[in-house]
Amino acid sequence: MRIKIRKNGPYEVTGNVPLKEMKIGANRAGESVCWEEGRTFETGETYHLCRCGKSKNKPFCDGSHTCGFDGTETADGLSYDDAAIIYHGDGMELMDSESLCAVARFCDAAGSTWRLIGSADNEELAVRQACNCPSGRLTVVKDGKKLEQELPKEIAVVEDEPEGKRGPLWVRGGIEIEGEDGSVYEVRNRVTLCRCGHSSNKPFCDAMHMEDGE
Ligand code: FES
Repeated sequence: MRIKIRKNGPYEVTGNVPLKEMKIGANRAGESVCWEEGRTFETGETYHLCRCGKSKNKPFCDGSHTCGFDGTETADGLSYDDAAIIYHGDGMELMDSESLCAVARFCDAAGSTWRLIGSADNEELAVRQACNCPSGRLTVVKDGKKLEQELPKEIAVVEDEPEGKRGPLWVRGGIEIEGEDGSVYEVRNRVTLCRCGHSSNKPFCDAMHMEDGE
């Protein structure tokens, strides 16, 4: 399974990668608290996902990128471990790589994940909130081990219904992402890819869809 970034074009997905929709679920206070499964897309062994935000057939590419899309990859290439700040809590740490933030807002619930790690009693909730973050910005670490939920290898098209926005592509389970120059990004359990075309951290989402997404 692999995602290949095409120059100023789409994500070329190969290897029969399952594709489905996942919607952010909010509580009455408007906090992101769960994921709701949406439709499943029929795909073949290879398919192309829109990266420019202009397709009339989202999430798939329809060739609209040929009208001047600049898809230059601008991510700094640092590993997560090198980029993340570490916050020390009560018997656990929280790794935070802010540039990956996709503003799915799971970290803000229950008074914020940064506050939750201050009490060992909140460990389960802190881990759940960190793992619900699709971008992989946050990771709870305990006894030197990153606490990660096992995810299937698949791509989820995120719909931010509480905010009425199309979210990023949530690449789950550790699928290789190959840049246009052939180099492979760090393989991670959770990562979000831009699909609005406006990220300043391409190919990763930086939440610009909240301002400019169509
Ligand atoms: S990348 Fe092809 S239409 Fe958006």
